[in-house]
Amino acid sequence: MPSTADYSEKIPNNVSLHEDRRLQRALESWQPNFLNWWQTMGPTLPTQDVYLRTAVNVGRDGWAQFGHVAMPEYRWGIFLAERDPGRRIGFGEHKGEPVWDKVPGEYRAELQRLIVIQGDTEPASVEQQRNLGATAPSLYDLRNLFQVNVEEGRHLWAMVYLLHAYFGREGREEAEELLHRNSGSLDSPRILGAFNEETPDWLSFFMFTYFTDRDGKYQLGTLKESAFDALSRTCEFMLKEEAHHMMVGTTGVDRVVQRTVEVMRSRDTDDVAGLGAIPLPVIQKYLNFHYSVSLDLFGGETSTNVANYYTAGLKGRWMEDRRKDDHKLTSDAIMVDALSEDADGEQSIGQTEVSALVGLNTDLRREYISDCQGGVKRWNRILEEAGVKQRLKLPHIAFNRKVGAFAGIEATPDGEKIPAGEWERRQGEWLPTEVDKTYVRSLMQPVHQRGKIAAWIAPPRNGINGQPFDYDYVHLA
Ligand SMILES: [Fe+2]
Ligand SMILES: [Fe+2]
Repeated sequence: MPSTADYSEKIPNNVSLHEDRRLQRALESWQPNFLNWWQTMGPTLPTQDVYLRTAVNVGRDGWAQFGHVAMPEYRWGIFLAERDPGRRIGFGEHKGEPVWDKVPGEYRAELQRLIVIQGDTEPASVEQQRNLGATAPSLYDLRNLFQVNVEEGRHLWAMVYLLHAYFGREGREEAEELLHRNSGSLDSPRILGAFNEETPDWLSFFMFTYFTDRDGKYQLGTLKESAFDALSRTCEFMLKEEAHHMMVGTTGVDRVVQRTVEVMRSRDTDDVAGLGAIPLPVIQKYLNFHYSVSLDLFGGETSTNVANYYTAGLKGRWMEDRRKDDHKLTSDAIMVDALSEDADGEQSIGQTEVSALVGLNTDLRREYISDCQGGVKRWNRILEEAGVKQRLKLPHIAFNRKVGAFAGIEATPDGEKIPAGEWERRQGEWLPTEVDKTYVRSLMQPVHQRGKIAAWIAPPRNGINGQPFDYDYVHLA
């Protein structure tokens, strides 16, 4: 039974860290580097305290505590979901065998790589969001920003724990590197493209938490299936925290759309720029951008690496145990997106059949896409209920892609392939222009008074942990 973490310990944990002095010392020597990173690369807005959820356990009956915490005293802990002693490998060539308590030598490099890539995204998003506090539309939103940030910090701890505990000296070196790479840095950028983009305003933040954090949810979902049990249990618990990040994104966009339609209705105009709200076409462009860069995070349509990860049992599919097949996929096929070429060498957007194992990135991206459709449906319901005729939509999979089959071509949001020259001329119709971004940024005036909210966004329906919207979520310094 994992016990409630002892918060008098330097590093709260449910992994019996005190029983492994070497590991404890290694993590304790990494801790000041982490805190230094948080100080220099984390949230810039000074506060006295923030109403935060802190993970204290993993059990069913309450895993988190809520309370006002002074940021320097926030305790990042290490928590793994409870062990299932009878757990067996659910897929691949080792299907049915007991899960691994140690890292098998033959898969060491691959597992380390998977953990480093996941770990790299966690601090990256904190870096991307570090200046947003200064323009928060309400104390409620400010609190949510801090919550997302501290939990991404904890997710870094989660990956660093695995690196330290299971990967020896190389793991410790990788843990250091996770603090040295920085989002957008020219010398040592973060590993994945979307994590080097900036998050300069709150519309971007909500789109990021909706679309890009959701990529994280799907990656964690595949790692949760891993035969390496510690990785599986770590990711299972991280997914619990991610649910809040998704909520911030989903309801954040809800509230922006809500406010926009209110202004459209009350002023009887579609042109709400200048009236303090964000026009629907601008919301659509932000959606187009964040969705398309997030699609890139799933990698190419086909990948032999990912096929090997699956066969080896390192990384499964989303909801592996609900799939009705043999969980080995050695004789299955899948249609993946592709460019096809006709006899004259003319390329067109199409599909091609590949082995199911090689097409696993496509399988995961499709699960993600259908999840994303849920958000669009919800935002369109707000438009519909307001009696507004416009609708939001996900752009075509070939739109604005930098990775995979469509990286080399240009396509409209409707999926029509267009020449590069036309793309150059017209991309401002589909992606945020400098004018759009400047307008959105001009709305980002901080509202740091209790119970008040900026004019471009509607208040939330519910507060946090049963508290009202006008609760004193944050005390500024
Ligand atoms: Fe995370
Ligand atoms: Fe997240």
